[in-house]
Amino acid sequence: MKILIKKGRIIDPSQNLDFLGDLLIENGKILEVEKNIEIHERVEIIEANNLWVLPGLVDIHVHLREPGEEWKEDIETGTKSALYGGVLRLACMPNTKPPNDSPEVTKYILERASQKAYVTVYPIACITKKQEGKEITEFGRLKKAGAIAVSDDGKWVQDSGVMKRAMLYAKNFDLPIISHCEDISLSRGGQINEGYFSAKLGLKGIPTSAETIAVLRDLILAKETQKSVHLAHLSTKEVIPFLKWAKEENIPFTAETCPHYFTLTEREVENYNTLAKVNPPLRTEEDVLAIKLALKEGLIEVIASDHAPHSPLEKEIEFEHASFGMIGLQTLLPLSLNLIREGYLTPLALFEKLIVNPSKVLGIDPPSFKKGNSAEVIIVDPEEEYVLTEEIIQSKSKNTPFLNKKLKGRVKKVILKEKIFDLSLI
Ligand code: DOR
Repeated sequence: MKILIKKGRIIDPSQNLDFLGDLLIENGKILEVEKNIEIHERVEIIEANNLWVLPGLVDIHVHLREPGEEWKEDIETGTKSALYGGVLRLACMPNTKPPNDSPEVTKYILERASQKAYVTVYPIACITKKQEGKEITEFGRLKKAGAIAVSDDGKWVQDSGVMKRAMLYAKNFDLPIISHCEDISLSRGGQINEGYFSAKLGLKGIPTSAETIAVLRDLILAKETQKSVHLAHLSTKEVIPFLKWAKEENIPFTAETCPHYFTLTEREVENYNTLAKVNPPLRTEEDVLAIKLALKEGLIEVIASDHAPHSPLEKEIEFEHASFGMIGLQTLLPLSLNLIREGYLTPLALFEKLIVNPSKVLGIDPPSFKKGNSAEVIIVDPEEEYVLTEEIIQSKSKNTPFLNKKLKGRVKKVILKEKIFDLSLI
């Protein structure tokens, strides 16, 4: 079967393409991408006037909650939400129950994904057993079972000796290592950003130093081991000078942030709104600006969602007891498009951070419109405005501060191999 997408704005950051044109798919593979493709045989035509045609996004920071917390999310619902968000490949974090610290759990996730997932799932395994920061997991066996990277997400490996050995070990096995930068001795018990609002609301604060110290330690270890470290979900302006220094020193590292850190401030929690309780916490306007500038300057090269579903059981309770996290797979794209609207990034630069760079971190070829590649295509209306209702959210959990808020930019169709998903029906 042939599918011809006509007159869309074709944007493929892996090939530096940005032009008005057509894309031809045959039997689930990219056949041609050109200004004008004429075809005189039976073909399914998709008109893409005023729409953007892109390779699928790659989100390397997702919590699918399976196994163990399926009341919040499972592989089927999480990946369905990904599909609706234009994310056609995702890496899932290991803080499941039990944590993904053994080949058995890694294989279980892959097996469930092969039965249930709408999009490609890459499991990330733990750095240490039970994420306790003590005993390093068996990287070789985990990689063989299908782990794409290692991380103790949600927890920083506090012991520098353990982290250094883990980095050397990961280097040996050519496994990416992802760090959740948080010195718990500074953040323990913290609820929101430390500052005016934590004082006003009477909540224990999380100082920016908890993140900055962790980032600096990890960069120093990356320098010493020459093993690249991926710094997850950065939130504060305080880390930026250290990222600059690390670039100047040619230290191997990559840095990531999430849409909430360049969109929202700590003000969101003013009414004890647990939907905005996230770790690291939302920070100040100055931090938001610094994160946007760091994205523009290329100091932060990856945008990921940190999709963290929680049910009302964990969210509709007193602030101190509520879990950290917000869902993000369906807000990743519309919120990131603001970086283009506000002039921080060109479309090519933005999609490099949403497609190419995250793929590089994982060591995989990015989705692209190169001839012969599997069709992983999303068709986006960057101008469509809509209210993010519970009905639109495909995730089992609806915990986002953007619930019932207006968003701009929506995925209309997905072509994944031979399947066409029409997403504009709800
Ligand atoms: O807010 C967060 N939620 N931050 C994390 O690092 C973990 C995540 C979760 O698993 O809920």
